[in-house]
Amino acid sequence: MSDDHTSDTMSDTTDTTDDTTVASSATAETAPDVARPAVSAPTVIGDDVDEAAILNALRGVIDPELGDNVVDLGMVKRVERSADRAMHITMALTTAGCPLRAQLMRDAKARVASLPGIDVVKVHFGEMTADERKNVMAHARWKARENALDTDIPATARILAISSGKGGVGKSSVTANLAVLLADQGYTVGVLDADVGGFSMPQLLGIDAEIEGERAGEGKTVMKPVVRAVGDGVLHVVSMGAIAGANQTEAIMWRGLMLNRAVQHFLEDVQWGELDYLLIDMPPGTSDIQMGLARMLPRADVVIVTTPAKAAQQVAARAADMARKGFLRVAGVIENMGPVTAADGTVTAMFGAGGGQALADEIGVPFLGSIPLDPTIAAGGDAGRPAALDHTDTVAAAVYRDIVELIVTDVAPPVKIADCSLRGALVRAGADLEGARERAHAG
Ligand SMILES: Nc1ncnc2c1ncn2[C@@H]1O[C@H](COP(=O)(O)OP(=O)(O)OP(=O)(O)O)[C@@H](O)[C@H]1O
Ligand SMILES: [Mg+2]
Repeated sequence: MSDDHTSDTMSDTTDTTDDTTVASSATAETAPDVARPAVSAPTVIGDDVDEAAILNALRGVIDPELGDNVVDLGMVKRVERSADRAMHITMALTTAGCPLRAQLMRDAKARVASLPGIDVVKVHFGEMTADERKNVMAHARWKARENALDTDIPATARILAISSGKGGVGKSSVTANLAVLLADQGYTVGVLDADVGGFSMPQLLGIDAEIEGERAGEGKTVMKPVVRAVGDGVLHVVSMGAIAGANQTEAIMWRGLMLNRAVQHFLEDVQWGELDYLLIDMPPGTSDIQMGLARMLPRADVVIVTTPAKAAQQVAARAADMARKGFLRVAGVIENMGPVTAADGTVTAMFGAGGGQALADEIGVPFLGSIPLDPTIAAGGDAGRPAALDHTDTVAAAVYRDIVELIVTDVAPPVKIADCSLRGALVRAGADLEGARERAHAG
């Protein structure tokens, strides 16, 4: 659902009613050996509110500083359907002035509005009580410890899964071109080639370096991505096609080991380092990998690639539907292999026209642009030099630049923690926020 279907209100008033205080009777389902701090469950008001669906959707909204989703952090205080059918979500923030609130609001609105039967979502903010704040910090520290086992993808990284229902529409080509343009702007961009059987990222990005696996004890192996500088930024690439060991035998063993549950391995065992973006080149189809990804990375946003043809559009709609069933947000649609306009103005629409925009309208998400069919794109892929960076004077490159601009300004802006506060760093250091604040004020 695009933003114009939603509206927002920002209520700055600190909610002083009882429901903002930490419920002492918070669910006691935790086993005694699990030191997971309890957080209060939200108050749900309205007869036909599908609480589970809404909370699941909100579990995709991450507070990047605190490293967990807003539901498990206990930030969601109230879910209410008003008489005019609008869905109101009230969240409590640790500090009212945090710039991250715009992002939290956008994410929450987009995710809840993508549920069936919900058109208007209003997000309200209040501030936490001191007790709640203490509790949320305790949860965040707990989560930070837990997370060490999960994945090394930073909580601040924006994750975009480039998907389509159909094969051959240009997912990999789009992933490679977006990745280099984002890196060129100075971002650190992870690229995960989730097409394990049909990997293409090493070829498209001209990477021949090999990923080294290191045994890390307890039968665990960690991997470091292949790093390639692009413009002012850098790519961190992981692909089955870049995996090799010191010798052939080890390489073969690696592949056997990995094919099983390769994507999970990539997510769990790769030391990604700091990332602004992680782009995932998805395999074609709506397979287990898609659903698995939704389970493992609920905060991923999906970008759907389609060709302009009607048939492709229908298949792509299924991919979007699939994403939503997994509660992933569809961030937008990119049309690829679109119409070409010649210098004399004649338009050649080899694969039809308008399919991308039609699909975006159908599923209610932003249309990001139509990349024309362009031989330099295919040639760039063959040469391992994405054309959007190399052939800057083409229409295709201009469209790619516009799409990247939309991504960084609107669709999935990078998370700038430095502007906000030191909460994230404090969590990682296990320090006490209140104490630090007092010291800061005293000093
Ligand atoms: N806009 C374009 N103009 C010309 N050729 C393109 C364009 N986009 C992609 N191609 C070419 O089309 C072919 C298929 O693209 P690509 O491999 O990116 O598709 P894919 O969706 O990732 O395929 P698969 O489903 O097999 O993973 C490639 O040869 C690529 O270079
Ligand atoms: Mg591909």
